[in-house]
Formats: sequence, C-alpha cells, structure tokens
Amino acid sequence: MTTSQHNPGESGTGGTQGLDDVPILPFARPNLLDLPPQYALLRAARPVALVRTPIGDPAWLVTRYADVKALLADPRLVQSPLDPTTAPRYSASTLLSKESFDRSDDTVGPTDRMRGRRAIAGAFRARRVQALRPHIKEHAHRLLDTMADAVAPVDLHEAFSVPLSYTVICELLGIPATDREFFQHSFDQATDMYDRDNAQRGHRNLVEYMTKLVVLKRNNRGEDLISDFVAATEGDHALLVDEVVGLAIGLLFAGHNPLMSRIDLGTVLLLAHREQLDDLRADPALMPSAIEEILRRAAPRAADELRRYAARDIEVGGACITAGDLVLLSLQAANHDPDVFPEPDRFDIRRQDGDHVAFGYGMTFCMGAMLARLELEVALSALFARFPTLEPAVPVASLAIRFDRLSGGVLSLPVTW
Ligand code: HEM
Repeated sequence: MTTSQHNPGESGTGGTQGLDDVPILPFARPNLLDLPPQYALLRAARPVALVRTPIGDPAWLVTRYADVKALLADPRLVQSPLDPTTAPRYSASTLLSKESFDRSDDTVGPTDRMRGRRAIAGAFRARRVQALRPHIKEHAHRLLDTMADAVAPVDLHEAFSVPLSYTVICELLGIPATDREFFQHSFDQATDMYDRDNAQRGHRNLVEYMTKLVVLKRNNRGEDLISDFVAATEGDHALLVDEVVGLAIGLLFAGHNPLMSRIDLGTVLLLAHREQLDDLRADPALMPSAIEEILRRAAPRAADELRRYAARDIEVGGACITAGDLVLLSLQAANHDPDVFPEPDRFDIRRQDGDHVAFGYGMTFCMGAMLARLELEVALSALFARFPTLEPAVPVASLAIRFDRLSGGVLSLPVTW
C-alpha cells in the first residue's frame, strides 16, 4: 500500500502520509447533523487518503464525489476480499461485509450478486411499491394515534421510526413483526464494530432464526418474499438455502436500518429549519426535493463508507491502490462535495444540484430506493400533519450518532408537541 505523492511517516490531513500515523475512522462529529471537518480537509488535500479502520487495519478513504462515483462503477473494485484470511477488515462486525463471520462455521457464504438481485427485483418494481402506499399510510397513522394518546415527551425513534420501518419490511419478507425486539437486539449485537464475540453472537442468532423460518416456509408458503426465495431454491439456477438465509438477513437490515435513521434525522433537519418546514407544509409539491435533500444531508452513520477491495492495482486521486487493498468510498463525504453541491452544509429543500449518492451508484445501487423514498415521504408528511407543533424535547446538541455500531443512528429522539 503506497501513496505516490506522500512520504511515509507524516500524519494529519494535509502534507504527507505514512502507515504508522494516519487518521483513524470513524472521525468525531461536531454534532448530530454536521459532518466531521476531516472529510472536507481530506477532500481538498488528499482525496484518496490512507486511513486506519476502526479496528486499526489500513485502508484508502475516498472523499471526492467524482472519485466515489467512478470507483463504484469500476470493475477493478470488488465486494469480497481476495484472501479473506489476510484481508484488512473494517470492523469486528461481519454483517455488512462479504467475508464469512466464522470460517469454521460458515453458514452465510458470499451470495451470487446477480442471482440475489434477480430474486429480489420483482418485489421492488414501481407498481408493486406504489401499491404499498395506502398500507404504509395506515401503519403510520396507527403509530401516530398511539403516540398522540401518550403523554409528551415521547421517544419518536421507538414510537414511530423503528416500528414503521420494521413493520413494512417484515410484512414484505413474511417475518412476524412481533419478533421485532429479538431483531433489534440481535442487530445491535451483530453491528458491534469493536467486540467480535458480541458481533458473531448477534449474527449467529439471526442466522439461526432465519434458517428455522426458511424451513417453516418450505411447508407453508405465503405471499411474501422469503416464500418467493424458498420457491427459488428449487429447479435450475436454484438459490441455496444458505443464500436465502443471507438474503433475508441482508434485506431485513437494509430495509429498516437506513430508513429509520433517515426518518429520525429528517425530522430533526426539518425541525431545525422551521421556515422550510412551514413552506413544505404549505406546498406539498416540495416534498420530492425535500426528501432528496434529507437523503443527501442526513448522515446517520459514523461509518457510512461502502467497502470494496481492489482486485487489481488502481491509480486514482494521486494514490496507488494495490490489489488486495481495502477501499472505503464515503457517501456522506461525496454528498457534501462543494464541486457538486455548492455550500454543501446548507440544508435547502429546493436544492436542484447534482444527484446525491445516498443510495450508492452502479451495479449495487440500492434496490429499495423507491420504497425508501415512499416510506420517508409518507412518514414525514403524516408526522408533521398530525403534530404541527412538534419539537425536540431535549437540546439537539445533546443527541449523538452511535459511534460503536455500524448501524449508527440515535438511541432515542425525545419530542414534544
Ligand atoms: C433511506 C433508506 C436507504 C438508504 C439510504 C439505502 C442505501 C443503500 C446503499 C448506499 C446501498 C449500496 C450498497 C453497496 O453498494 O455496497 C444499498 C443497497 C441495497 N439496498 Fe438500500 N437503502 C435504503 C433503503 C432500503 C430499503 C427500504 C430496502 C429494501 C426493502 C433496501 C434494499 C437494498 C438492497 C437489497 C441493496 C443491495 C443491492 C445490491 O447489493 O445489489 N434499501 N442501499
């Protein structure tokens, strides 16, 4: 791993850089809404920078919008490490990585990307997603009714964002939403960035649960995605049961975690910009651009980088990435690149600048993007219509992103009205 323009042994975000003294991820944040200043410093001085991952392994951090997009479309970067036994790792959690969480007991092998995407694709076609709108609305209103009956302050995160996002994806997958507490606990363990035993325990519990569910669905198919996956384990090009289990866990996480934290942070962003919130309530036609601005601006994970491995040597941004190196593509840094988004820290629901990369880009672009946009729109419209005087019940400065979990997000969001 070498940098072409830097000498080893020097640290900081400008100047030269060596392996022993480089920035360590995740960077500290000034508050809930704003990004660590290191991203802007690195983007300007060293757009492809050598960093250390939270567990100390070396990696390249990419912060420029153009580089992030180009590398997401670059076939020389792959999702699985070339040699899992020696590959640098991002964190103790293996939930969102393509490496096995325990080579001796590997129940979730790397899935075949295209087979996986094919199996999921039908469920997220435009017409099927739009057909969910009344149903999502109904869930949102039911949760808000319960919230209205409670005595303020109420924790919006637990009362609304978590149950809404879980319920929708659980129904799609055919998982009993009543098991939400088990999932919340297991994902909390499985996304532990520093304690590998805890992360593996959580991951193993999820695998055990899903394996049982898949076996149950074999004899008792329903109108849901896991039943579709189970059907796809038969015949030519069949999915393996382990792949179905991996897909189901991946989808359950992908379908609720980023969404619930955007409902939380979207709420805080709008409350922090009251005039724009009033404009939005007066003119719902602003909602689509407001949702895009929330997606661009909300950065609910301290560790939001998409992880890739170099399959070949790559020269980019003045750095020479060597085959086998870990490459971290920071979506939040890209979404705040002033070359694409002038005054990137300004929240502007009318912004018409470039396309953000909150949903990724290229071959692995988020398959649930349409559903996520719909859920966000329904959730925020219903929330502010029902509680026009909503406000945080604690100073926003006292709220923070969780730094020890890949899932990030806030632990709670007390609100009053
Ligand atoms: C605001 C909410 C969401 C955000 C910000 C988000 C973001 C992302 C990002 C950045 C990726 C790319 C990962 C990569 O390239 O490594 C991704 C992939 C994916 N997302 Fe989402 N997502 C959201 C909601 C959802 C929902 C609701 C679902 C499904 C119900 C979903 C399903 C998926 C799937 C299946 C993939 C994998 C695509 C692939 O690897 O081929 N996402 N998402």
